[in-house]
Amino acid sequence: MRNFKKILNNEWSELSHGIKKAKHSYHTFTFCTIFEKIPEARTVVLRNTNKSKHLISFHSDFRSKKYQQLKDNNNVCALFYDKNRKVQLRVNGLGSIEHKSKSCIKSWNKMSKESKICYLAPLAPSSTTSKFIPNLPTISPHQITDKDEAFGYQNFCVVNIKISKIDWLQLDHKGHKRILFEFNNDFSANWIAS
Ligand SMILES: Cc1cc2nc3c(=O)[nH]c(=O)nc-3n(C[C@H](O)[C@H](O)[C@H](O)COP(=O)(O)O)c2cc1C
Repeated sequence: MRNFKKILNNEWSELSHGIKKAKHSYHTFTFCTIFEKIPEARTVVLRNTNKSKHLISFHSDFRSKKYQQLKDNNNVCALFYDKNRKVQLRVNGLGSIEHKSKSCIKSWNKMSKESKICYLAPLAPSSTTSKFIPNLPTISPHQITDKDEAFGYQNFCVVNIKISKIDWLQLDHKGHKRILFEFNNDFSANWIAS
């Protein structure tokens, strides 16, 4: 069990490096939802982790399809692959959206004006348009007013994933290593065949 915990702790530590370092393989991951029985996958940027609560988070536009999809079905999957260490993390859990919460205010206040611009898009993500529209505000980051801030904050949300299990796979020419970590009531870890 000690070895399993060491491996898991190391992954939490790599995930937190992924938040800070844009070049780290864990900086982005594939986030998957199910909507009306159809899977949907998209790339997102890892923004926060909470090891003791088994949580990972990313930022999103509250107007995007994710909100409706998570309301419909909150079973989600997150997929990470670290090319250097040849480690894949297949994470399952429950997704939830925080909008205008204390943690949203904290994240919004820490965000650069360049990043805030993304939330000032006039159209909701996935809106149909008759021709190509950049969907960017006409102002540059340094021109953001208090009114723009309020509009951007209204569109900003934090998506949390409460992890229930992690399927850890490390490619190895002597035999791929695979462990299933589960966090439901009690913690468990077991080798599984690759
Ligand atoms: C490298 C990269 C990073 C992205 N990061 C995010 C992100 O952190 N949050 C987000 O909502 N969308 C992000 N996107 C856009 C999503 O992949 C997706 O296109 C968008 O969120 C709309 O998804 P939806 O219609 O399923 O809601 C990113 C895309 C790329 C290519």
